Amino acid sequence: MTPQQHRSNIGPWIDRVAQNAASKLVEYRTFLGTAVRNPKMVGAATPTSAAVAATVAQVVPTTGTPVVVELGPGTGSLSNGIHRRLPAGARHIGIELGKELVEHLRAHKPWMEIVHGDAADLLALLDKHGVDRVDAVISSIPWSLLPGDAQDHILRQAAEALAPQGAFTALTYLPADQMPGGRRFRAKLTQTFDEVLTHITWRNLPPILHYICRRPLS
Ligand SMILES: C[S@@+](CC[C@H](N)C(=O)[O-])C[C@H]1O[C@@H](n2cnc3c(N)ncnc32)[C@H](O)[C@@H]1O
Repeated sequence: MTPQQHRSNIGPWIDRVAQNAASKLVEYRTFLGTAVRNPKMVGAATPTSAAVAATVAQVVPTTGTPVVVELGPGTGSLSNGIHRRLPAGARHIGIELGKELVEHLRAHKPWMEIVHGDAADLLALLDKHGVDRVDAVISSIPWSLLPGDAQDHILRQAAEALAPQGAFTALTYLPADQMPGGRRFRAKLTQTFDEVLTHITWRNLPPILHYICRRPLS
């Protein structure tokens, strides 16, 4: 291979790497900027890792026409993994409170339906968007920072929205699950669902505790 051929082979590769780095930079800047302005709303300094996204996406049905709702998609770090599994005809709805994050998602994840709203209004928002059952709710809002009545209010709506075979998942940071808000949330999950499984993803800073819940108790 001549030096000229070598240059023309690696040129596109360098462009792709540079584009990916630039888009990661925009993502991190948007996330961190929002987190600095609204620390309690975001509850994290950086988006979660691809390893977390791969685990979370496992509850997403790969057949039929499922409806998946993400509560607090942020900059969409979980959204690509979810999107990759969804079959044609599925709906992928993200409910996000942060205005700048909503704009980022609309610009970078055009295949998602982005709703600028509060997870506390889940049932009303689903109704407004013509959704009467949800196959998976994937939530990464800062659960352990919420007061007990707010946790209850959102959890009850998520349980009510679920289809009979549906799954509810929630992410919390590993140390946060030992804080009073985290312990209260775990107790509420076991009161709300018949099955509550846990999984830890270590490849995230800090590590993430996943709750995977099924069969809401009436
Ligand atoms: C810890 S970040 C997770 C972001 C992203 N899913 C990730 O894994 O990197 C929490 C996200 O939830 C959003 N959020 C917090 N409270 C919310 C609420 N009540 N309704 C909708 N989104 C909310 C925040 O703006 C933020 O984007």
